[in-house]
Amino acid sequence: MYFLQSVLFIYFTSTFNGLIKNMEHNKQLANQTLHWLQQLNTNTVEQKATENINELKNVLRFNEYRYYVLNNAIISDNEYDALYKLLEKVEKKHPELITKDSPTQRIGSSLNEGFATVQHLVPMLSLDNSYNADDLKDFDRKAREASKLNEIEYCVEPKFDGASISLIYENDLLVRAATRGDGVEGDDITTNIKQIRSIPLSAPFSKYAIEQIEIRGEVILTKQNFNKYNNWLEEQGLATVANPRNTAAGSLRIKDPKEVARRNLDAFLYHISYMNKYEVQSTKYKNESIVPHASNRVHENTHAAQLQMLWDCGFRSPEKEKKVIKGIDGVINYVLDFEQKRDELPYEIDGMVVKVNSIELQEKLGMTSHHPRWAIAFKFKARQATTKLLNVEYQVGRTGAVTPVAKLQPVAIGGVTVSSISIHNEDYIKEKDLKIGDTVLIERAGDVIPQIVKSLAELRTGKEEDIIFLKECPVCKSKLFKEEGEAVWRCINIECEAQVVEKIIHFVSKDAMDIKSFGEANVRKFYELGLLKDIPNIYNLNFETIGNLEGFGKKSVDNLKAAIEASKQQPLNRLIYGLGIRFVGETTAKTLANSVGHLLDLKNKSEEDLQQLEDIGVKVAKSIHHFFSNDQNILMLQQLESIGLQLKNEKKNIVVSGGLAGQTFLFTGTLNKLKRSDAEALAEQQGGIIVSGVSAKLNYLVVGEDAGSKLEKAKKINTIKIISEEEFLKLLSEQ
Ligand code: IVH
Repeated sequence: MYFLQSVLFIYFTSTFNGLIKNMEHNKQLANQTLHWLQQLNTNTVEQKATENINELKNVLRFNEYRYYVLNNAIISDNEYDALYKLLEKVEKKHPELITKDSPTQRIGSSLNEGFATVQHLVPMLSLDNSYNADDLKDFDRKAREASKLNEIEYCVEPKFDGASISLIYENDLLVRAATRGDGVEGDDITTNIKQIRSIPLSAPFSKYAIEQIEIRGEVILTKQNFNKYNNWLEEQGLATVANPRNTAAGSLRIKDPKEVARRNLDAFLYHISYMNKYEVQSTKYKNESIVPHASNRVHENTHAAQLQMLWDCGFRSPEKEKKVIKGIDGVINYVLDFEQKRDELPYEIDGMVVKVNSIELQEKLGMTSHHPRWAIAFKFKARQATTKLLNVEYQVGRTGAVTPVAKLQPVAIGGVTVSSISIHNEDYIKEKDLKIGDTVLIERAGDVIPQIVKSLAELRTGKEEDIIFLKECPVCKSKLFKEEGEAVWRCINIECEAQVVEKIIHFVSKDAMDIKSFGEANVRKFYELGLLKDIPNIYNLNFETIGNLEGFGKKSVDNLKAAIEASKQQPLNRLIYGLGIRFVGETTAKTLANSVGHLLDLKNKSEEDLQQLEDIGVKVAKSIHHFFSNDQNILMLQQLESIGLQLKNEKKNIVVSGGLAGQTFLFTGTLNKLKRSDAEALAEQQGGIIVSGVSAKLNYLVVGEDAGSKLEKAKKINTIKIISEEEFLKLLSEQ
């Protein structure tokens, strides 16, 4: 009893100490992050970064880890980018300071030839499958017989639906990543894997006395990133992709690492296939790890402990998703329960994997030439079904793109009835060889939009009809056009009613102006009734008439009014995205918003100017230029501004806790050293707020040459500090 108590005491105190260390470590790195952010824009920052380059690298690693592994970022993307650029700058000047695990070393160049073939340290076996409780009981019985145990402890975790990979780390550095290939040999895909930011370039294995380690895992694409990628493809006029699994698998073999990075892949690491240990436990890992360790104890004698170790080393292992369960009955309950919840996960899983927890027992049970005897996959019910393709209808989108939609005999898959599916474009129809009357295999994966996998040509009777793509717009009847190199037919009549409605729907949508309680149905209804004709019209709706419509009580009218009013404060990037400019997705909208002080400044930018911005190529620049060269569009923007929408770049979220946090600034007159917009940005970077007029709320009026009425007004309010440009610069440098 005494023994047990002291063991427990040691265990708990070490865990507790670990936790405290954890928190302190986190706090330290978070503080260092803030400290570096505050240093940005000071004259000495580069010198400091050169002297403390390891700290800067660790700060970047820590923030990658918070964002990509923990899903819990503490700084904005812009702030991360600013720190990253600082490191890049210093490394450019001092190449001798570049290390292989520097956060900048993820970038690689395109491959000209194919991928090199490499041999796995241990063959990558597959898993045996089970489909029901009896199969699992059978598996358990065999394991119990072979081990002569009454009950076996299992570790159960999701079966990630992606593409398997193997990683090798030597002396803490990621040295190689490979695809599964035939299980014995795979392709060397190290450069592509480095684009996955939840995979660390270095990990503190030496703390566990591990010199070389081979880890297996699955590259996946979350449902959210899959949808984002498809939206982007659609915006580019490119063919969309069918499901996250194929997209993840396809991504690994792309020769351009930049294209891989665009897809925002993720990876779960779930198995250690090989470990080579130092004779004596080492303290070799010199960099303080970015991952706070719960403990440094070496305890990898169970699968669960190995997952924990991988997690502690900074990997996304299924540490939080796994469950250790004694006896197969509990396992059966758990996997069946999990199947009910599969759609709640942010990524696709196609089953669960049941693994014998003890590594010693795993070794005892061994493997066949195909799969280990200590693990089995429990496959969830397939979410595929066959049905008839009855007809094809056409929809016109906000950019005029005409999308064919297959009407199906309704069929239930995974608890949802599917009766229509987008079949994207003419090329897709040809590629899938679809005909009206065909029997088709369809697949629905969670909240991913259903897709046609294929048509079952062998079931054709001869009565099927070819799908002949429309030649004119189904709504306004104008002739459709297709640009060279594009798969999409478009209606180019900008007055086409379908496009106008879709544009308004896009404007009010969640990712754009997020006007809650407006929604697609209301837009259509108001449009049909003649109550809504264009975007500015949203802001002067006749609520009296709306209040008299069926289904509209006082409360719903009030909610709608409030939501419309609130949307006037949406930041500029949302407004830009909401305008529905072709090829301008959320990211490009942010880039554009950050590039100007006022939206209408874009009117003066040439295509060449626009191409200087990040990720804006010829096609996108052309489209933006086209939009801002159109007088109608400019008129609409002016109208929106007079209604009270934000066309100014507020640059609000850059730094929230700088030395000038919450202080208000106004600039007047001509500045000598700085451009007005740069001076404003500098104040904002330290947490300052730029205001547009003199009032008692103003803290600093920065006065340049020929200042006029603002200065006079400010002199009358004695709480306002009136300072020169020099004093302003001094103020900044003191923070
Ligand atoms: S363990 C020797 N665990 O499923 C044991 N595999 O159908 C190796 N997979 O090839 C595999 N999630 O690519 C394991 N949690 C998980 C998994 C998992 C997905 C994949 C893996 C494997 C395939 C077998």
